[in-house]
Amino acid sequence: MYFHNFFQSIAKRYRHGWVFETGMSNEASRGARRKKSLVALHWSGRPCNSWLAPGAEPGSPEYFERTEAERHRLEPFVARFARYQDWKGKSVLEVGCGIGFDLCQFARSGARAVGVDLTAAGAALSTQRLRHHHAPGQALVADCEQLPFVDATFDFVYSWGVIHHTPDTDKAAREIVRVVKPGGQVTVMIYNRRSLVALQAYLVYGLLKGRPLRRIAEIIATHLESPGTKAYTVREARGLFPSLEDVSITSVVTPYDLRIGRNRYLPHWVGSIMPQSLGYFMVIQGKKPRLERSLSESVIDAA
Ligand SMILES: C[S@@+](CC[C@H](N)C(=O)[O-])C[C@H]1O[C@@H](n2cnc3c(N)ncnc32)[C@H](O)[C@@H]1O
Repeated sequence: MYFHNFFQSIAKRYRHGWVFETGMSNEASRGARRKKSLVALHWSGRPCNSWLAPGAEPGSPEYFERTEAERHRLEPFVARFARYQDWKGKSVLEVGCGIGFDLCQFARSGARAVGVDLTAAGAALSTQRLRHHHAPGQALVADCEQLPFVDATFDFVYSWGVIHHTPDTDKAAREIVRVVKPGGQVTVMIYNRRSLVALQAYLVYGLLKGRPLRRIAEIIATHLESPGTKAYTVREARGLFPSLEDVSITSVVTPYDLRIGRNRYLPHWVGSIMPQSLGYFMVIQGKKPRLERSLSESVIDAA
């Protein structure tokens, strides 16, 4: 009943429909839509991490079990940041839920969990994963640059490896902060430009191709995952969330930093002796200031 009421209230807070950029010229708006469509096309054709279960029928029990086990093997550190158990009874939004690993973990841990993804494929597979585990929760199709929720809806907003793919990452970051409640938490993973993955990409697509002056940002945008992917320095990452407080930024060395072939990686322990600041995954954690505090701060500022 509790969950039913929560999802009813989410349904009320869900603003239907796609509203395209109002303050843009027609041409800029067309350009933005085109870039977004290319991102959607990429992830619709290859729902994120589906490749972890080659040969399994997407949506089958085998697919869900194998992708989950393999994702856990490759990215065991995710749980440290997602802290699934901490959100029991709380409202959680996952932005860019992909095929629903984390969304399902939140729901299974007792959170009132809602996921959104740009693609219908992602939302559908996430919904099926929830059903597979008999977990409550919802997955919807939505754009992280225009989250379909009113302000201050969620206790926790979580996003893992998503907002660097969308054309207007600043806007996505502002949307995340908008929908979290004052005092609520935000955890967002984006890619680190000063990482071993970025270095490998430069070696392969820059140096070895005889183009040593090619910029890393351009290489990443062209060759890593969906078109236009970005990667950030710590300073830029902090700049995405200027209004959060108690911000921490933690980089993690991932198997992808230790890749030595298409599906071959150096053993995990090598990652543990590397400087973590060279890791590809950069996790931003912070808290949205409480209204009372912002108000009192503005009174002090005005005095
Ligand atoms: C690298 S996958 C990560 C998925 C999931 N968070 C995970 O860890 O498995 C990137 C996901 O971001 C989604 N995505 C990209 N742009 C988006 C946007 N503008 N709004 C919502 N989701 C988006 C893609 O559809 C894709 O599922």
